Amino acid sequence: MTSSTSGESQASTPTGPIGAHMRSGPLRAGQRVQLTDRKGRPSTITLQPGGEWHTHQGVLRHDLLIGASEGILVANDAGHEYQVLRPLLNDFVLSMPRGATVVYPKDSAQIVQVADIFPGARVVEAGVGSGALSISLLRAVGESGVLHSYERRADFKEIAVGNVEAFFGEPHPGWEVYLGDMQEEVLTVEAPGSVDRVVLDMLAPWECLDAVKTVLAPGGVWVSYVASVTQLSRLAEEIRASQGFTEPEAHETMLRTWHLDGLAVRPDHRMVAHTGFLLSARRLADDQTPLQLKKREKVSVASEEDRAAWPANDPEAVWDEASLKTRTVSGKKARKAAAYSQKIAAQAKEVFTRE
Ligand SMILES: C[S@@+](CC[C@H](N)C(=O)[O-])C[C@H]1O[C@@H](n2cnc3c(N)ncnc32)[C@H](O)[C@@H]1O
Repeated sequence: MTSSTSGESQASTPTGPIGAHMRSGPLRAGQRVQLTDRKGRPSTITLQPGGEWHTHQGVLRHDLLIGASEGILVANDAGHEYQVLRPLLNDFVLSMPRGATVVYPKDSAQIVQVADIFPGARVVEAGVGSGALSISLLRAVGESGVLHSYERRADFKEIAVGNVEAFFGEPHPGWEVYLGDMQEEVLTVEAPGSVDRVVLDMLAPWECLDAVKTVLAPGGVWVSYVASVTQLSRLAEEIRASQGFTEPEAHETMLRTWHLDGLAVRPDHRMVAHTGFLLSARRLADDQTPLQLKKREKVSVASEEDRAAWPANDPEAVWDEASLKTRTVSGKKARKAAAYSQKIAAQAKEVFTRE
């Protein structure tokens, strides 16, 4: 075990790309650290000079870690050992304070790839929720890119800002969060045809169709993440009907982890079997119509009766948390998460000060 040489905060000026100072070098006060016990259970703490981490297995002094290397084993006062590592982006997202459900890392990775998010891109995102997807998008656009995120709940915006600043250790220069409904706000902020990519994660993305069509540049990519087949079907049909996009494509990503133990090498028995679907389409040039794909001619067209029987086509359908069986997050819970995310952001920003 290596112990710390100093329990003091070491504020200095970060060099290099945004957030890089949070990811390497000796552990510093204000940074998040993941401690894994002998049962493989991870816990995340934020290092503070003089801080203590109390569990039923004893007390670990933060000063043992401040200034130490990642990858060490550290023992608490009762002799229980922990493996010490900085949380990776995947770990950070799963341990950060949440209001809304986050996009899981397997899906964020796919979104960055399918939406072709590139350094310097101008990207629009809605809603922001807890900011998990925002972090991946900001990493992909880099400091020369722009991410404009739209969120209708003020308490969620606060949680997301805290989480993003805690991750990067400072505000990201390319990020702005706008409060309000995306379909209205985006038209006041983005010039027509000026956006390279749009990424939506919300219950009723078709409500934003006209706005997306207006702001997205010809050839621009629109990716929507939805949790239910009814949402997927309605969005695909509305995108087709709008005639402004290429044929929508959809997929889901299943991630199966493996058990690796001697001769017992096999898939794990349990997995997260469902998170959501990704649907993508590209904006056509103005006054153009989609190419009529031959394969679609063979597709049988649903009768009016069939269409009416499908719940997604019910004009009376209410697309809210209750009918889609997703969690409704109370204001109280969101305020608690916001206070926590602001706290870890303030601690992270003390690690370094950019001049
Ligand atoms: C599931 S959450 C997003 C989670 C986020 N992608 C993450 O990874 O943390 C969906 C969010 O969309 C917001 N929302 C829904 N419809 C919206 C709209 N039309 N405009 C702006 N925000 C919207 C909700 O308030 C909610 O915070």
